[in-house]
Amino acid sequence: MNPAKLKGANGIKRIAVIPGDGIGVDVTAEATKVLRAVAAAAGRSLELVEFDWGADRYLRDGVTLPQGAEEMLRREFDAILVGALGDPRVPSMKHAADILLGLRFKLDLFVNARPIELLDTALTPLRDRTERDIHFIVFRENTEGLYVGMGGIFKKGTPDEIAIQEDVNTRKGVERIIRYAFEYARQHQLRRLCMSDKSNALTYGHDLWQRVFAQVKEEYADIESSHWYIDALAMQMVKDPGQFQVIVTCNMFGDIISDLGAQLAGGMGLAPSGNINPESVSLFEPVHGSAPKYAGKNIANPLAAILAASMMLDHLGWADEAAAINAAVRASVREKQTTPDLGGSLGTREVGDWLANQISKQGVAPVRVQQ
Ligand code: IPM
Ligand code: MN
Repeated sequence: MNPAKLKGANGIKRIAVIPGDGIGVDVTAEATKVLRAVAAAAGRSLELVEFDWGADRYLRDGVTLPQGAEEMLRREFDAILVGALGDPRVPSMKHAADILLGLRFKLDLFVNARPIELLDTALTPLRDRTERDIHFIVFRENTEGLYVGMGGIFKKGTPDEIAIQEDVNTRKGVERIIRYAFEYARQHQLRRLCMSDKSNALTYGHDLWQRVFAQVKEEYADIESSHWYIDALAMQMVKDPGQFQVIVTCNMFGDIISDLGAQLAGGMGLAPSGNINPESVSLFEPVHGSAPKYAGKNIANPLAAILAASMMLDHLGWADEAAAINAAVRASVREKQTTPDLGGSLGTREVGDWLANQISKQGVAPVRVQQ
């Protein structure tokens, strides 16, 4: 093995960058621009290695996720940054499923962390709600549930057709995500955690969620735990979002409420996520998709991808660098140095330039007061 390719050598962080399709390419270019600026400002080294996995590659040579990719990523990289996947030329979404869901499953990225944070009162569609009310994190189980792809179609295309999609919930899988959410709450001095399921209707799979939750919460008496059925949770998120600090739920419900949450905080242009395996390489991406019709037009909002890059640095232990990016993003939102969806008039590239410049000007300062 080439030692230069070993991750962790000389304090260098090696990042695999997968821009993907559509606006994924546009926003990833800005995220890497900002990453380079913050590394330079902090005097740190980042090595960004790009991979061309996506629709173009698939249409060219049939490759989606290359053989052995997950092994290579685990061995050679500290983290993975993804833009977005999805292209109208591949209506089956085969490449997207193989690459994104493939990496989530093969790298066992069982935590999907999706922070919902309102950066400016003006951005929420809710009346009379401020930054204080909309500030929580959703932990979505990321390796089980309805996403495992178990099932089949019988008598396809006939009037007697049957389609079955299995919902897989394992004790281990449910326990590790619930435990991760409690640990996160404790480490971040958060006092409230809500588990959400649909155990009133899904009386086997989500009964397991109920029983595991009841068991695990006993170990976290310092944290106030609550439960909403998922339909009621959707309503409560709109009615009284301030009650939430940490939400933990299954894969499918987490997918849905993270879009609802993103909209409460100003839309998909601002929503980052981390697909995390605490013991191995993790993957960071914006929650939004590839929006093919806006691709290459310099109009996509790059902030979600940039915030995903910041989550990635924080995860890698570069807390000061992550804070510098977050501060610059807040300033851009406040000063409307943004794309039109957030009230500004800049293009994708100009937002990246503005942030990179802001970071170089402000520098990277330690965020914590030394005792
Ligand atoms: C997300 C996306 C994906 C998901 C799609 C693209 C398969 O919506 O990351 O939320 O459902 O997980
Ligand atoms: Mn989604």
